Amino acid sequence: MRVLVIGSGGREHALAWKLKQSPALSALFIAPGNAGTDFEGQNVPVDAADIEGIVRFVRSNRVDLVIPGPEQPLMLGLKDRLAEIGAPCFGPDAYAAQLEGSKSFAKDVMRAAGTPTARFEVFTDIEKARDCVREWGAPIVVKADGLAAGKGVVVAKTEEEALDALERMMIRREFGDAGKTVVIEEALCGEEVSFLALCQDDTVIPLPSAQDHKAVFDNDEGPNTGGMGAYSPAPVLPDACAAKLVDELIRPVLRELKKRGHPFTGILYAGLMMTKDGPKVLEFNVRFGDPECQALLMRLDGDILPIMHAAATGSLAETSLSVKQEASLCVVLAAKGYPNSRYAKGMHIQGVEEAEALGAEQGGEVKVFLAGVSQNHGTLVASGGRVLSVTALGRDIAHARKLAYAALERIRMPMGHWRADIGMKGLNR
Ligand code: AMP
Ligand code: GLY
Repeated sequence: MRVLVIGSGGREHALAWKLKQSPALSALFIAPGNAGTDFEGQNVPVDAADIEGIVRFVRSNRVDLVIPGPEQPLMLGLKDRLAEIGAPCFGPDAYAAQLEGSKSFAKDVMRAAGTPTARFEVFTDIEKARDCVREWGAPIVVKADGLAAGKGVVVAKTEEEALDALERMMIRREFGDAGKTVVIEEALCGEEVSFLALCQDDTVIPLPSAQDHKAVFDNDEGPNTGGMGAYSPAPVLPDACAAKLVDELIRPVLRELKKRGHPFTGILYAGLMMTKDGPKVLEFNVRFGDPECQALLMRLDGDILPIMHAAATGSLAETSLSVKQEASLCVVLAAKGYPNSRYAKGMHIQGVEEAEALGAEQGGEVKVFLAGVSQNHGTLVASGGRVLSVTALGRDIAHARKLAYAALERIRMPMGHWRADIGMKGLNR
């Protein structure tokens, strides 16, 4: 099979690494990829948002399966365009991708599907939104409807903070059109966890639970990032709960989308808050999380390619997934300054092979997935905010954690930073 992966992060390196192990693979392309994916397959200079460029590439290179990593190409209609030329795509159409792309759309689907989620109202009129904040009081959550690079959500501790967020989103338009509409939500308390499932129409294959670490500093302090680390399984969501979550959170949403004429294919990712009243959905994503993907793929046994192909061609029900008992843990090495848009670049990275060798030395497995890394005359050079993610597989979370941090010590890069507490919530449970 000839496969094209879209994207350029650590998630895409992990996907390429896993796909490369498939006996069914005959060619692997990554658009545009990074220095890590270049090692697994062939990078092609087509941007993830260049839908027509991707379609042209698929046609002229006889690609059998397209796997988009990020949501952006899906929201731009990649699946719909590929359907026109009969090319299978592991992801939803643009309509269903609004589950991630529009918070008001997601909430509307959740309301129709009866999904447990925070109480909410949608506003386009700032006066009405302000009235809602004054009526509900703080704490309260204000969200820009559209995508805002993870910065469009304000969990406000005071009414003033919420009113200020409304002003910035709706009047000053700090997030452009994404803030034309806002969703105001009740603030939920609890531990967050990621629950992902492979879906096609009404077939659901749940993946093991994972937990992301969104804040930049230890103890969940500082601004939100794309994710500073992840581990799986997350004890806050035991495997035994999966079937119930599939029935209560995933299937009703799939049914609602099908009813609307847009059956879902791909990964449905539910960001959950484990509240005292049970799990509630904070958000849906329509793709693998980054870095959850790195942790999850380390735990998958066997070949993922036939499963993704089956989902994209309508026969997911005929496949099954096998998961390793071991635990995985992934620590992100970021560049100084990240998540600010001005962060350090150009640092040389050494020690990747030594880091990976540590896995076998200590009875586990270590893989370094590259993200914001380019090659310069054979040297690895940091070029993005999240530079790489060291991912380990061990007997349990404690072992995987020990391996991941010991491997990270072997990587030499000036001006890097990472969280030292990845996995601690799981260990303390
Ligand atoms: P979202 O993009 O909707 O997942 O929001 C980003 C982050 O904001 C989540 O990971 C949570 O940490 C936080 N958040 C979102 N909605 C709520 C809520 N209703 N209550 C508390 N925290 C929330
Ligand atoms: N790790 C969170 C996300 O990918 O959205």
